[in-house]
Amino acid sequence: MWNAAQYLKYSDERSRPFNDLLSQVRTEDVLRIADLGCGAGNLTRTLLERWHGAHVIGVDRSHEMLAQAVPLSISEQLEFEHADIAEWSSKAPLDLIVSNAALQWLDDHAGVLSHWVQMLCPTGTLAVQMPNRFRAVSQVAIEETVADPRWATLLESVGLHRQSVQPMLWYVHLLQDLGLTVNAWETTYYHMLTGDNPVLEWLKGTALRPLLERLHDEDKVEFLAAVGERLKESYPARDGVTVFPMPRMFFVASR
Ligand SMILES: C[S@@+](CC[C@H](N)C(=O)[O-])C[C@H]1O[C@@H](n2cnc3c(N)ncnc32)[C@H](O)[C@@H]1O
Repeated sequence: MWNAAQYLKYSDERSRPFNDLLSQVRTEDVLRIADLGCGAGNLTRTLLERWHGAHVIGVDRSHEMLAQAVPLSISEQLEFEHADIAEWSSKAPLDLIVSNAALQWLDDHAGVLSHWVQMLCPTGTLAVQMPNRFRAVSQVAIEETVADPRWATLLESVGLHRQSVQPMLWYVHLLQDLGLTVNAWETTYYHMLTGDNPVLEWLKGTALRPLLERLHDEDKVEFLAAVGERLKESYPARDGVTVFPMPRMFFVASR
């Protein structure tokens, strides 16, 4: 279960990579767009600001996220569909597939990306962004907490892990082998966050979500305190500001 309000707490920080990704899509000739893992639809809607005449479909399997997105629909221009993006198929070939911060939640990236590429029209473009913090201190804090015997039996192998995202070169070679021209890059955003333990707040909206779902309410409080303590130590505040480095990978691949 996604909590749109928790996720959107950092919507400014989370929208910047989406815009940076789209800045590298050079084609203006775009009529059919799919946003796969569209979440609350707030970023999906902005695709129409750039490609006015396009038809945009946002696809997501979270009812909570779609409850935010569906009211943004615009007849004949912007619609949302409930589906698993690993399996969803477009009714017509697509000029542009965008997927922002969603692919890391799926298994079998080779199978999924080759399925997405098959939905592109002969001049189509695939634009994907994913967080790549799975070897960073925040992940170590989560993994160390989960490895504690208090949590290991309940939480071992739940949620995102080091193998959720492959090294960038792996994606580049995969897309080249699928016949695409690839523009790939990695960036670390240094988010300046305020508030008490903001990295914990950030991760509650994403990576900690599947772990918390497995726990009863009183266990949730205890688990959050344990992981929160580690995160606070790893990301100390200075003058009320916590710097949270967030590495992200991007690829824009065209036929
Ligand atoms: C971190 S949010 C990103 C939302 C949006 N793209 C954005 O950038 O704000 C990840 C989204 O991917 C969706 N998602 C994850 N796995 C999915 C799947 N297999 N099928 C459909 N949606 C999925 C989640 O429901 C969630 O809304």
